[in-house]
Amino acid sequence: MAIKLNEKYLKGFITEDELNAVKPDTAKAIETLNARNGKGNDFLGWIDLPVNYDKVEFEAIKKAAEKIKKSCDVFIVIGIGGSYLGARAAIEFVKSPLYNSLKKDTPDIYFAGNGLSGTALDELLSICEGKDICVNVISKSGTTTEPAIAFRVFRDLLEKKYGEEGAKERIFATTDKAKGSLKMLADQKGYETFVVPDDVGGRFSVLTAVGLLPIAVAGCDIDKMMEGAAAAREAYNGKVGTDCERYAIIRNAFYRNGKAIEILACYHSFFTMTAEWWKQLYGESEGKDGKGIFPASVIFSTDLHSMGQMIQDGVRNIFETVVDIKETGAKAVVPSDEANLDGLGFIAGQSLDSVNHKAFQATALAHCDGGAPNIVLELDSKSEFDFGYMVYFFEYACAISGYTLGVNPFDQPGVEGYKKNMYALLGKPGAENEARRAELLARL
Ligand code: PA5
Repeated sequence: MAIKLNEKYLKGFITEDELNAVKPDTAKAIETLNARNGKGNDFLGWIDLPVNYDKVEFEAIKKAAEKIKKSCDVFIVIGIGGSYLGARAAIEFVKSPLYNSLKKDTPDIYFAGNGLSGTALDELLSICEGKDICVNVISKSGTTTEPAIAFRVFRDLLEKKYGEEGAKERIFATTDKAKGSLKMLADQKGYETFVVPDDVGGRFSVLTAVGLLPIAVAGCDIDKMMEGAAAAREAYNGKVGTDCERYAIIRNAFYRNGKAIEILACYHSFFTMTAEWWKQLYGESEGKDGKGIFPASVIFSTDLHSMGQMIQDGVRNIFETVVDIKETGAKAVVPSDEANLDGLGFIAGQSLDSVNHKAFQATALAHCDGGAPNIVLELDSKSEFDFGYMVYFFEYACAISGYTLGVNPFDQPGVEGYKKNMYALLGKPGAENEARRAELLARL
C-alpha cells in the first residue's frame, strides 16, 4: 500500500457521528462510479486506464521519447490545464524541480502555451537560440487559444530552422483522434500524433499520452508509473472502507462543518507542481453550482514563514491535508562545527529529512492547537510507482467527493466564461461575439 491515511491529527475536530453521516453518500458515489450511471459518465475512462490503456500507443510513446532524446537539446511541451500540469508535476516529483539544471543525458524541458505572457514566450525563444529543438503540442480539443498561439510561434521557428520536412520530424501532436483544428493541422503536415481518449477529461489525463510522452522524455519509467496506478486501482476501484474513500469522507465532513478551504501541504519543494495538478483536479471537478471545497496549497517549511501565520491564527475555515513522503533518498545532513557559533550543535549529524520530519510533527501539533486539523497521507517514496499510485488515489477520491457534493465532477462549464469574453474583446468573427463585444465595451 503506497499511501496510508493517518488520522492522528484529527482528534477532537470531528466526531464519528459526523463522519458516519457522510458515509452513505460516499458509498452511493462509489456505487454510481461502479454502475457508470452518474453525471458525466461518458468521462470515466480514467478508472480502468491503468490496465486498459492502448499498449501499441504506449510502445509508440516510448519510441518517440527515445527519438526526441536523441535529436534535441530543448524539448518544448505546449499545453494548458490538464494538458500541462500532470507532466510537469511528474517530472518535478520524480526527477527534480531543478531538472533542467541537473547533469543528465535527457533534453532540457520547458513548458509553453500555459498562459499568455509575452515575456514568458520571449524568454523561452531566447533560451532556444542555437539549440536543437523538438516540440510536443498537446490539446484535447485542439482549439484552446493559449497553446494554439504558442504552437504558431514554435512551428514557425522549427520550419524556418529545419524546413517543413525537418520540422515534421520534430513536432509531435497529442490531441483528439479525429476532430479539432490541431488534428487537422497535424494530419496535413504529417506530424506523429498521439491520442487523448474521448472518455478521459483533461485533468484526468496525466496517464495518457498527454502526460506520458513528456514524462518519458525526462527519463522517468512510465511502465512503473502505470504499475503504481494499477495497484491503486486494485486497492480502491469500486471498494468501500478504503483510505481513498475515507479521505473523501473526512474532507466532506469538514466541509459540512464550515471548513470550506483545504490546504494541501508537503514538506518538499519537488511537490510544488503536484500540488498545482491537485488544485486543478479538485478545483475544476468540485467548484460548481455554488459549491465546492476551495483547494489551496503550501510547501513547508518555506510557507510557514508566510502563510503559516494565516493557517495558525486566521479565520478557522480551513483544514490541511499533508502528504508525508517517507523515503526521499536525500543524503544531506547538518554539518558538525566545533565552534558552534550558530548553536546548531544539538542537531549536527542529523539528516535534513529527519529535521524536516520533526518540523512536520511540530507544525501539525501547533496547527491543531490553533484549530486547523491535519489529514495525513503517508506516501512511501517519490518513485514513479508511487507517483502513479498517488495520481489514482487523488482521482478516485475526487470522483467520490464530487458525487458526494452533488456535482458533476467531470465537466468544467465555468471555464467558458472568460473565453467567451476574451474572444469577443479580441474581435473574433461571429454574430454572438459581436453582440457580446458591444455589451462588454459598454461595461468597460
Ligand atoms: O481539465 C480540463 O479539461 C481542462 O483543464 C483542459 O485540460 C484545458 O482547458 C486544456 O484543454 P485542451 O487540452 O482542450 O487544450
